[in-house]
Amino acid sequence: MLPIEIRDVSLMYDTPGGKVPGVKDVSINIDASEFVCIVGPSGCGKSTLLNIIAGFLAPAAGEIRIGGKAVTGHGMDRGVVFQDFAQLFPWRTALGNVTFGLEMKGVPKDEREKIAREQLRLVKLEKFTASFPHHLSGGMQQRVAIARALAYNPAVLLMDEPFAALDALTRDDMQRLLADVWRETRKTVIYVTHNVSEAVYLADRVIVMSAHPGTVKADIRIPLDRPRDPLSADFLEWQKNLLRHLGHDAGGGEAGQKSNGKAHTQGG
Ligand SMILES: Nc1ncnc2c1ncn2[C@@H]1O[C@H](COP(=O)(O)OP(=O)(O)OP(=O)(O)O)[C@@H](O)[C@H]1O
Ligand SMILES: [Mg+2]
Repeated sequence: MLPIEIRDVSLMYDTPGGKVPGVKDVSINIDASEFVCIVGPSGCGKSTLLNIIAGFLAPAAGEIRIGGKAVTGHGMDRGVVFQDFAQLFPWRTALGNVTFGLEMKGVPKDEREKIAREQLRLVKLEKFTASFPHHLSGGMQQRVAIARALAYNPAVLLMDEPFAALDALTRDDMQRLLADVWRETRKTVIYVTHNVSEAVYLADRVIVMSAHPGTVKADIRIPLDRPRDPLSADFLEWQKNLLRHLGHDAGGGEAGQKSNGKAHTQGG
């Protein structure tokens, strides 16, 4: 629902061994209600960029504007689903996690529990409303995080490989759910994925980042009608097209393109 401007954003991490670039000179303009996927090799800076947009990291240079307003920290206009499993409040039940944003918004108890139960039903966790995170599998925790991000209806959704840990059938369901939610609510979505088919299924546009330190290498519009059929000839053609764009880095000697078993590079 809000446009996002990312202008010349760079970030360096301080490490004991010196400064390490996170992202370099990234500029992307995203229209209101656009669904943008970001793909690129492991370690190129996708999570770093998402964290900057979320307001959890401050860029060393450049700026982000959401709905014309400069980002200076986190706000209720953005819902975030991290790559990490450990993103839920461990002391709250699944239901308590999902009601959190609604509490912040001042929604009355009965109503927020009703909304939270409905969101948990959509991610197929209606039987686990009273469970604490440590009693849920990684994929289930990830679905609670998705329900939590959707529940308070933010204008912008920032999602970092949210379905990577799910089994194939649940992942298909969740992709369909997200596509439906997006069609109905017209949120602006930035979605990081390693899965080329997922990007072609979901995105209006796919941003391809180069290997570390990541910068924008290609910006590809996916003109397919929705709902999309992953078995159609057009779909497969776009998938190939995108793979070709990603493949160029492999020629540059950087390994780990199609990293399913990718290294987790974040410190914490
Ligand atoms: N907390 C940190 N401290 C130091 N360096 C970091 C930290 N987080 C990330 N980096 C470095 O910044 C670069 C970008 O990391 P980032 O996690 O953004 O990559 P990514 O594209 O999300 O990778 P992946 O696909 O594996 O999730 C990497 O080279 C990484 O080593
Ligand atoms: Mg990442």
